[in-house]
Amino acid sequence: MKLSVAIDGPAGAGKSTIAKLVAKRFHLNYINTGAMYRAITYAAIKNEISHESVEELCSMIDELKIEFKGESLYLNDKDITEDLCLPEIAKKVSFYASIPEIRKMLVKQQRRIAENSSVIMDGRDIGTVVLKDAPFKFYLTASADKRAERRYLELQEKGIEVDYAKILHDIKQRDHIDMNRDVDPLRKAEDAIEVDTSDMNIEEVVEKLSCIINNKLNH
Ligand code: DC
Repeated sequence: MKLSVAIDGPAGAGKSTIAKLVAKRFHLNYINTGAMYRAITYAAIKNEISHESVEELCSMIDELKIEFKGESLYLNDKDITEDLCLPEIAKKVSFYASIPEIRKMLVKQQRRIAENSSVIMDGRDIGTVVLKDAPFKFYLTASADKRAERRYLELQEKGIEVDYAKILHDIKQRDHIDMNRDVDPLRKAEDAIEVDTSDMNIEEVVEKLSCIINNKLNH
């Protein structure tokens, strides 16, 4: 039986960490849609295309092949997973992700992936747009401070020197753009289950989601 799980929520709520673990438990393909928007941003920066040059961006995307292999993202056969975490990408990605034409192209690719396999997909518009009919929808949240702290530790672990106050500022700015853009803003789908992860550890969140999925599958 094909299964689809949608996970939405703001940056740093723990979506990707949780989704990867739930994917392992239920043998699902993990699709990180934020990484797809980051890959477009990466390519746009490389090609020096501003977020205002929409036509040029669309032609660029037409030439790009985005593939997930396990937890890695390949852009035209090159593994760019590590590059996608760079602060420069995080800073600019919301601008590119706000462009309706880009969203339309990526949503189409995301739906195609979900048609062909069992997936757990995380992002901002999965439960509301991409997989509207998904039987499992979760909305993960956490306070902005907690989310900034997690991003800070994550980047430090990767050896990237960062300033906590700047991360917090960028997270709040990204929340604002993601929640207030005209096209497919971040919001909880009416039928999504909200989980506040501020005071939960990873295992607790994975356990909670897994129980909900198992309960529904067994009824
Ligand atoms: O989850 P993330 O931080 O890697 O996402 C990067 C950006 O992409 C984020 O600012 C919001 C945007 N995004 C989106 O608009 N829709 C998605 N489905 C996933 C991400």
